Amino acid sequence: MIYDLIVLGAGPAGYIAAERAGNAGLKTLILEKNEVGGVCLNEGCIPTKTLLYSAKIFDSAKEGKKYGVVAKEIAIDHEAVVKRKDSVVRSLTGGVKAKLKKSNVTIVSEFGQLSGRVEDGYRVITEKSAYIGKRLLLATGSTPIIPNIPGLKEGLKGGFVLTSKEILDLKTIPQSLVVIGGGVIGLEMASYFNSAGSKVTVVEMLKHIGGDIDPVISEILLKNHKKKGIEFRLNSKVVNIGDKSVTFESGGETHSIYADKILLSVGRRPVTDGIGLETIGVEAINGKIKTDDRGKTNLPEVYAAGDCTGRFMLAHAAYREAEVCVNNMLGKKDLMRYNAMPSVIYTNPEVASVGCTEQAAKASGINYETATLSMRYSGRYTAENEDGDGICKIIFDKASKKILGVHMVGNYSSEIIYGAAMMIEMEMRIRDIKEIVFPHPTVSEILREIAFEI
Ligand code: NAI
Repeated sequence: MIYDLIVLGAGPAGYIAAERAGNAGLKTLILEKNEVGGVCLNEGCIPTKTLLYSAKIFDSAKEGKKYGVVAKEIAIDHEAVVKRKDSVVRSLTGGVKAKLKKSNVTIVSEFGQLSGRVEDGYRVITEKSAYIGKRLLLATGSTPIIPNIPGLKEGLKGGFVLTSKEILDLKTIPQSLVVIGGGVIGLEMASYFNSAGSKVTVVEMLKHIGGDIDPVISEILLKNHKKKGIEFRLNSKVVNIGDKSVTFESGGETHSIYADKILLSVGRRPVTDGIGLETIGVEAINGKIKTDDRGKTNLPEVYAAGDCTGRFMLAHAAYREAEVCVNNMLGKKDLMRYNAMPSVIYTNPEVASVGCTEQAAKASGINYETATLSMRYSGRYTAENEDGDGICKIIFDKASKKILGVHMVGNYSSEIIYGAAMMIEMEMRIRDIKEIVFPHPTVSEILREIAFEI
């Protein structure tokens, strides 16, 4: 069967591309070996947010006294949390399938593999069939990095070490949980399991948590998490996994700590092995499919989007990359831009960033200025956050006063950051923000406050 487009993988990049292509009249086939929705819907963004929302309610109830609310017997019923998570996931994956069908996309629930060029396009095979696509979109996603640490493979096999996938299905809360890696996944999971009752220790190789977020924000996040009882071993590199133990090196010394379970969250890598890239000659560097700003690979009519390109491993980046690919397939000029790509850590408090950090501005020799304001300048924030220590930091061009980056820690940041992204996209200057009317009282007003402060 010949299709106008064959999509490999039905995660955020794949399903959005298929939907857009189908709606534009392209005869589209999407191949997915698991449930549609990819990591994001089945074992990433959405399931973790349901867990974290339960943790947020629990934290609020625990802190209730500060707000005149006294709750007795507060506890997380983990089984009920997981049940709700499964139902949310089912509802959303069902929604994606319905949308694909409405867009006349053919869904084949099989593993698809590239299998050479033919006269009409490219050949894709599954166990049961073979298809031809005039165009291809590769959207095969990513998988957790499994580093070469002695004892790790055995730990994974025995269920003592879990990745972000397996931890979501734990039936009971472990008494102690050691999280390897204080990045996005590590921090979000540490937050939930700490609220749910585990004794959580995060072991992080770097001197700070949260990857390349602003250092001041990283410090605030660390302080908040420590206050909740999470222990941090920074500057500590895990070197061995034993029977119920984790060994790490720190400052020339070796330490071992006990763990009932371990979460491994040291990054993700693109999934490009075994999909037959070599059969048609798709160029990949270190396993990342090389694309240009139109999503095109080195081959005609072969596109790639999402985590398999290894650019920004974020679902919203994948959505937009997919749309850029489809627009270019349809002959509409559309280019991918990454300068206003928001990112969020959904801990309590939330962290949200967009645009360049001060570190990046300095490294690229930009003549910039910064301004930082406590979130308490927002009346709404103060009303809702006893002892809140959130901040908002803006990086702007010294001469033009154009906004280059916005970084926030404090709740609602995840919902505010898109406004800041728009300001960067529109190349707005500080004085332009002053002319925008923000709803009062909202935490978003912090952006207006900071503009007047400057
Ligand atoms: P990450 O790259 O954010 O963090 C990994 C951390 O592990 C780093 O801080 C690193 O220094 C540390 N590390 C590496 N080896 C270590 C060792 N041997 N001992 C101690 N520490 C070690 O990776 P993470 O958290 O696994 O997330 C993977 C991807 O998933 C990211 O690209 C992220 O963008 C995406 N993601 C995004 C989310 C969001 O947008 N909220 C949520 C979850 C994942």
